[in-house]
Amino acid sequence: MTFTRRHLFGLEDLSSEEIEHILDTAFSFKEVLERPIRIVPTLRGVSVLNLFFEDSTRTRISFELAEKRLSAEITNFTKGSSSVSKGESLRDTARNIEAMKVDLVVVRHSSPGTPQFLARHLDCGIINAGDGQHEHPTQALLDIMTMKERFGNIKGLKVVILGDILHSRVARSDIFGLKKMGAEVILCGPTTLLPRFVNALGVETTTNLEEALDGADVLYILRIQKEREKHTLFPSLQEYVKLYGITRSRLAVAKEDIVIMHPGPINRGIEVSYEIADSPGALILDQVTNGVAVRMAVLYLLSGRAHEKQS
Ligand code: CP
Repeated sequence: MTFTRRHLFGLEDLSSEEIEHILDTAFSFKEVLERPIRIVPTLRGVSVLNLFFEDSTRTRISFELAEKRLSAEITNFTKGSSSVSKGESLRDTARNIEAMKVDLVVVRHSSPGTPQFLARHLDCGIINAGDGQHEHPTQALLDIMTMKERFGNIKGLKVVILGDILHSRVARSDIFGLKKMGAEVILCGPTTLLPRFVNALGVETTTNLEEALDGADVLYILRIQKEREKHTLFPSLQEYVKLYGITRSRLAVAKEDIVIMHPGPINRGIEVSYEIADSPGALILDQVTNGVAVRMAVLYLLSGRAHEKQS
């Protein structure tokens, strides 16, 4: 297929064919990453700006590594060391970026819709690296790639997403992506962390962890995002750990080969025990490895180089 999009805002916009195409491209790039020399000239002459207004470890580093592996020209922006601290608006920051001529912008921002805003003001491709509580599409793509690598197919998988669904852009992107690829998605957590909008997305919700785990292939654990909480949503972290913290004993009701996933950063001892986070069934670092390949695929497909190759 020809990938004609200029921007990646979220998985809500993509078809299952487009998701498959990104994943196929990511698996090809994964082979490149396993070679002794892991650099290809694919994006030579393409300039990429990494525009991070929010903290990040995995996403920022893996985008930068993906860009380096593709031989792109890289510029990094972080909010702390920029003129945003002097009161510069996002619109003015965008206009200045435009004046410097870049081909692709990777953006993370606490406000939902920032990637779309930049796309309206800049003449370059925009990749969403997480916008507030809205979407985190490359995270969901690497999650789906990791599940596909383990199970061969996404169709028919039962995936439980556990925890802070309310504040999670990862959950939203995973729900869109997994549903499109034919998985059954169950959301589990305290009622206050299960927003009402998810019922419209064709997923089941439950507050009962044992019920959710019954027959599940994947348990996808989310971090409690205290920094986004405006009101207290459950009595205490201790209470949360008691009811929803994942430990070996809590998994006794699950399939023996259930896979554990987490987008990171992990709060060990809260949403997941040290033992389970480091267990053979945990694919948490495989997700991180696949993040580089997925981001290489997205950068390549949005750079226009894929069209040049086909023409
Ligand atoms: N999963 C994720 O987005 O991690 P970072 O916040 O470290 O990028």
